[in-house]
Amino acid sequence: QDAFLVGLSSIHWREAWKYGERAFRYCQHDIGHAIGTFRIAAATLGWDCCLLAGLSDDLVGHLLGLSRQQDFAGVEPEYPELLAMVWPTATHDARFLHFTHALAHPGLLTAGEWKGKATRLSQDEPVAWDLIDLVTHATWKTDSSPMPDVGHGPEPVAPLRASHHHRTSTDNTPGNGQAPASPSAGQIIHQRRSATAFDGNMSLPADRFFLMLERILPQAGLPLLSRPMPWDALPWNPTVHLALFIHRIDGLPPGLYWFNRFPEQRSLSSFQSVMHEHFQWTKPEGCPADLSLYLLEAGNGQKLATQLSCGQDIAGDSAFSLGMIAEFDEPLLRYGPWFYKRLFWETGLIGQLLYLEAEAAGVRATGIGCFFDDPVHDLLGFHPSTTLQSLYHFTMGGPLDDGRLTTLPPYGSHST
Ligand SMILES: Cc1cc2nc3c(=O)[nH]c(=O)nc-3n(C[C@H](O)[C@H](O)[C@H](O)COP(=O)(O)O)c2cc1C
Repeated sequence: QDAFLVGLSSIHWREAWKYGERAFRYCQHDIGHAIGTFRIAAATLGWDCCLLAGLSDDLVGHLLGLSRQQDFAGVEPEYPELLAMVWPTATHDARFLHFTHALAHPGLLTAGEWKGKATRLSQDEPVAWDLIDLVTHATWKTDSSPMPDVGHGPEPVAPLRASHHHRTSTDNTPGNGQAPASPSAGQIIHQRRSATAFDGNMSLPADRFFLMLERILPQAGLPLLSRPMPWDALPWNPTVHLALFIHRIDGLPPGLYWFNRFPEQRSLSSFQSVMHEHFQWTKPEGCPADLSLYLLEAGNGQKLATQLSCGQDIAGDSAFSLGMIAEFDEPLLRYGPWFYKRLFWETGLIGQLLYLEAEAAGVRATGIGCFFDDPVHDLLGFHPSTTLQSLYHFTMGGPLDDGRLTTLPPYGSHST
């Protein structure tokens, strides 16, 4: 009652026609971005939102009407991804009530009748990418998949690997970032676009940069329902940290940095023990105490950042670019292969937040799905047995306008 469900699905062919095998991952990045769009839009209306993590993919497919073989005959396959519940902000107890209701009585949700036939996208037979089918099958979530339980507090975390040398932690616990005055959320959401090129010149004030880092802190020490929006939408513990190339942030030495997104669960020493021994690990001057940001190595990393992102200049000409590094093996071993997609959803959600933060700061950003992960791991010196994995890159800076592009209001007469 007073709640509705949002469902997302993927048609891999919509990405695979262009990107081939990488399409599966790009679809999952996009799901993460889409989670950000509806969680943040819900917040602007005073609504809450959380993914229903307990549903099997079969059930989500059924609820979304994707299992109607006749209506989908001869079209490119469409796969279930998730269902999320949205409701006007009420008490946390009410949120759980809604959850339990949906999970306990899915029959209530399947009573409706779907109408309509799916549309074929391409005239020719789609190119078969066996690996995409393989990973789709391998990551299918079943009723018996083990579930994270973060409703009442964080779960224990396993070490990244056995330590090969020791240092002491100087990490701090996170706090709450306060936004300076800024344009309305609606305006920012409507104007968001990707930068196609950067000016190689504009720098960001350090305070603004620190605020962005505050916004992507999931505050994993809190029970799920008390975490800041949009991190309250993902009902599992965070897995993703950042390796940053800072090119131009006022007051910060250019160089390679590490940002620990959940210091309440991961000590600094757990990273120091699996990365290059020569890294500095110094906290930049002026960095708020609750941000676990460390300079690893000072220097101009523009060329390197470009090379690591498949030679794309947008990674080097920006104010900063970054790699999102997931704690990879541990959650997969704990929950099973279905969690693979959720790692990408978290990176997409970070990306969506940073896209909007960029617009609010008067700059622009671009997601970077094309990068070389092994050289990124080499650069950071990940120990061979380390289970950290680069999953998504991102960049932000002063955009260069492309005069050939026209931007129209995204929602016609509904735009602000
Ligand atoms: C997951 C993801 C990966 C992307 N990867 C790249 C990339 O490697 N290089 C690039 O120039 N743009 C990249 N983009 C930007 C897209 O090209 C852009 O989002 C898309 O063209 C739609 O334009 P818009 O963001 O302005 O709405 C990426 C975007 C996303 C969401």
